[in-house]
Amino acid sequence: MPSIQRDFSLERLNSFGLPARADEYLVVDSVPALQAAIAAGALDGRTRLLLGGGSNLIFGGDFHGLVLKVAIEGRRLVHEDADAWYVEAGGGENWHDFVRWTLRQGWPGLENLSLIPGTVGASPIQNIGAYGLEMCERFDSLEAVDLATGELRRMSAAHCRFGYRDSVFKGEAAGRYLIGSVRFRLPRAWQAITGYADLVRELAARGIAQPDALQISDAVIAIRGRKLPDPAVLGNAGSFFKNPLVDGATFARLSLAHPGLPHYPQPDGRHKLAAGWLIEQAGWKGRDLGPVGAYEKQALVLVNRGGARGEDVRRIAEAIRTDVRGLFGVELEVEPVFV
Ligand code: EPU
Repeated sequence: MPSIQRDFSLERLNSFGLPARADEYLVVDSVPALQAAIAAGALDGRTRLLLGGGSNLIFGGDFHGLVLKVAIEGRRLVHEDADAWYVEAGGGENWHDFVRWTLRQGWPGLENLSLIPGTVGASPIQNIGAYGLEMCERFDSLEAVDLATGELRRMSAAHCRFGYRDSVFKGEAAGRYLIGSVRFRLPRAWQAITGYADLVRELAARGIAQPDALQISDAVIAIRGRKLPDPAVLGNAGSFFKNPLVDGATFARLSLAHPGLPHYPQPDGRHKLAAGWLIEQAGWKGRDLGPVGAYEKQALVLVNRGGARGEDVRRIAEAIRTDVRGLFGVELEVEPVFV
């Protein structure tokens, strides 16, 4: 059984670069190894934290418990039929590397989700999405270990209860399961998803009218590279707030007062607003509060200017929420998980 390390620094294991130490730290590189650790009582009585790529976590301080670092590798074609390829990857695989690998194999479908930071095993937790596609649209099933019993369970999309940047793993099942692997269904009847404004512009600029999956991936990488800071250079956790959903009456009131308000009508009659736009209007784009700022190219992303601590992140997030509430009467909900 792999050994537990004590007083372990997590600073380089969270993309915001926040200082934090774990009382105990265990690398999980296979499902049987995890089950053996559970059977040996290694998890008993401990507060646990599951760590993937650390790209969606904000540490408020040290973690007094056991961190389980998911490092389960492997990727393979499980099977194929007349309609689709079924592809699986270990929870610890890097998401973007996995996406590019599927494209190289000639299995399109995940290209719009290129360059999203984090791991395959974290992708269902917040149902990652970008450029007109959400992970759940390509999801088949996953295998998760129940940390209380060691039991391995296959879960369908219905079990996972996916929503916008949401799933059962952020709700009632939070902390209960470790996602060992995720299986995707990539239909042979592929269609380019290119409706998203930024993507339309990028493909036009490249003179591509009928893009293939690799060309879409390349375009997405270029857009993300321009708008979103590289965590290796400037610490961040991607979009810091969810795009808020408001009802029809609220939208009507807001769009009257703010004619340029970007919005995405939802099937249920509500409207999704662009949090980045609201934050920019509230004067926060490119502005810092202490060592944390709203990124100058995309106000929805908070960045670590150097030496930030969890409390600094909390402070600017609260200040932004207060200003957006004051100006628009809209509540912003935080997207990353605070520990
Ligand atoms: N906007 C501004 N000012 C800003 C930022 C954005 O006016 O500072 C406006 C843009 O001009 C545009 C609208 O807001 O009209 C939307 O902006 P953008 O296209 O950049 O996307 P987003 O809604 O801010 C979402 C996801 C991103 C994803 C992009 C592309 C959420 C919370 N964020 O951002 O996901 O990459 O769309 O699909 O849904 C993430 O979740 O970590 C993430 C990066």
